[in-house]
Amino acid sequence: MLIRIKKASDVAAREITPEALVLNRRRFMAAAGAGAAAGLLPGTAGAAEEPFDVTPGFRVTPTRGYEKLADGEAVTLPFSVWAYNNFAEFGPEKTDPVQNAERFKPRPWTIAVDGLCAKPGMLDLDAFLKPNAFEHRTYRLRCTETWSIVVPWIGISLAAALKRFEPLGSAKFVRFETVLRPEEMPGQKTSALVWPYTEALRIDEAMHPLAFLAVGMYGQPLFPQNGAPIRLVVPWKYGFKSIKSIVRISFAEVQPTTSWNQRIPKEYGFWANVNPAVDHPRWSQKNERRLGEFMRRPTLMFNGYAEEVGQMYAGMDLVKNF
Ligand code: MTE
Repeated sequence: MLIRIKKASDVAAREITPEALVLNRRRFMAAAGAGAAAGLLPGTAGAAEEPFDVTPGFRVTPTRGYEKLADGEAVTLPFSVWAYNNFAEFGPEKTDPVQNAERFKPRPWTIAVDGLCAKPGMLDLDAFLKPNAFEHRTYRLRCTETWSIVVPWIGISLAAALKRFEPLGSAKFVRFETVLRPEEMPGQKTSALVWPYTEALRIDEAMHPLAFLAVGMYGQPLFPQNGAPIRLVVPWKYGFKSIKSIVRISFAEVQPTTSWNQRIPKEYGFWANVNPAVDHPRWSQKNERRLGEFMRRPTLMFNGYAEEVGQMYAGMDLVKNF
């Protein structure tokens, strides 16, 4: 039997740079620029204060927005966010997105806004973003699979972005659609979901001040695996509502069909508000594992945003409407 005697100079396991971060560092440096890359290493997420290029020549300087975390809550280590992803378009496993996103081209990018609005349009992403104020928002994200992360996003208020297209009074829902490019997204050649991935919010949810469209994280543009070049972030709902790589936004009168709800309606409700009292049919939702932490922590109603969003669901049966 080999008995290993610990020396004071031994490196603790937690100090070892995660392998995937090392393996992918070259690709990541190419995407982010070497200077910005340093900001992604654990413990240096403060680079988020710097202006950054959304596209070459379009620099944004975000102002600080929402950041109300409980004592002891920290921004999740970038490795967890960067190489542990759900993005079915790139495959079913957590490391598929970072490995299979090489061919994905987040530029050029256009967004169509249509349906029940007075000023529909098809805009280049920069034109879509430009009139809006950029903000930092540090939010919790809770996946229905019971893992969670805390991410410093950069982006724009969804409400501000939508109002410009003048939604009509008859618009009761907002539908979002991910790009359909099977040649760049190998998962779209499988029948895992009906493609393109779609999601939707009720109009008051979409207009809520917490609803956000992210174009960056950790002070730099989104990586393909995190939903480049633009994704939704709805922090009080399970992560599957936060649809990635959006190309189309539509105002609708009738509740739209959404991907996971269509695939397994008993497991993935349309509303998907984080709710520790309503278990997933195959597991409890009472607690969660914050990536990078050892102990599980209790899951909070509306993911800790009940004070802000609870009123929208007053009188609604949240067990029936899960
Ligand atoms: N958007 C698209 N288009 N396709 C997906 O598979 N997965 C969702 C959501 N957005 C998904 C998506 C799920 S289940 C989660 S938990 C989050 O993205 C994960 O975001 P992250 O990988 O950036 O942490």
